[in-house]
Amino acid sequence: MNSQAVDAVVAPSADVDPRARLGARTRVWHLAQVREHAVIGDDCIIGRGAYIGTGVQMGDRCKVQNHALVYEPAVLEAGCFVGPAVVFTNDHYPRSVAPDGTLKSAEHWTPVGVTVREGASIGARSVCVAPVTIGRWALVAAGSVVTTDVPDFALVAGVPARRIRWVGRAGVPLDGAGPGRWTCPETGERYTEHEGRLVLDDERPHATGDETPAGL
Ligand SMILES: CC(C)(COP(=O)(O)OP(=O)(O)OC[C@H]1O[C@@H](n2cnc3c(N)ncnc32)[C@H](O)[C@@H]1OP(=O)(O)O)[C@@H](O)C(=O)NCCC(=O)NCCS
Repeated sequence: MNSQAVDAVVAPSADVDPRARLGARTRVWHLAQVREHAVIGDDCIIGRGAYIGTGVQMGDRCKVQNHALVYEPAVLEAGCFVGPAVVFTNDHYPRSVAPDGTLKSAEHWTPVGVTVREGASIGARSVCVAPVTIGRWALVAAGSVVTTDVPDFALVAGVPARRIRWVGRAGVPLDGAGPGRWTCPETGERYTEHEGRLVLDDERPHATGDETPAGL
């Protein structure tokens, strides 16, 4: 059964398994491969030569850039950006063969996945080493190796990736606005930092935007 939305667009050289699902207006570019049971949301773009593994789940409006390798069991929420040549691993201690020299197959190892929360971006040629979660609206700098969970709104960089800044939903670094307070220079959105976490003030329960953060 072919589960592609009627207005999904698949380049002739792309390889989309008939058991994969493509949402409305999703485009799959040349030489990309989408494996069986992958579920891709609406308005997604799968770039040239990208690989989407078996059963990968992807929300609406995601962009997977050229030659990114999204191995299962990765899960991407809506609005995620996966840069060119990014790799999501799925085998923490990989081996091609068992100690007796025989080829290992799927039943000899348990895949672990990368989870990318809403709106997050993974910079070019980064590697996310599963199991790991990239928080909402986080930004991973180009060439990073992510080995631990990334908090919401964190900008992380390096090998291993460490937080160097906070970014807002617009993707640009936030300006400090007093102890524990941050403001987006593009949108004016305000954020509050507490115990290494950042929360958008509009999303805080009972937020007024004026109270002093607890513990600061
Ligand atoms: C991380 C990034 C957003 C930082 O941009 P910025 O806010 O202008 O920051 P700066 O260039 O001022 O750098 C801040 C610090 O981080 C370091 N840095 C910047 N990018 C880095 C990276 N990719 N890896 C490691 N360190 C990085 C800088 O050297 C600098 O360090 P310093 O303070 O010791 O001098 C940007 O460099 C980046 O990697 N963007 C992603 C690009 C990408 O992959 N796009 C995908 C589509 S092509």
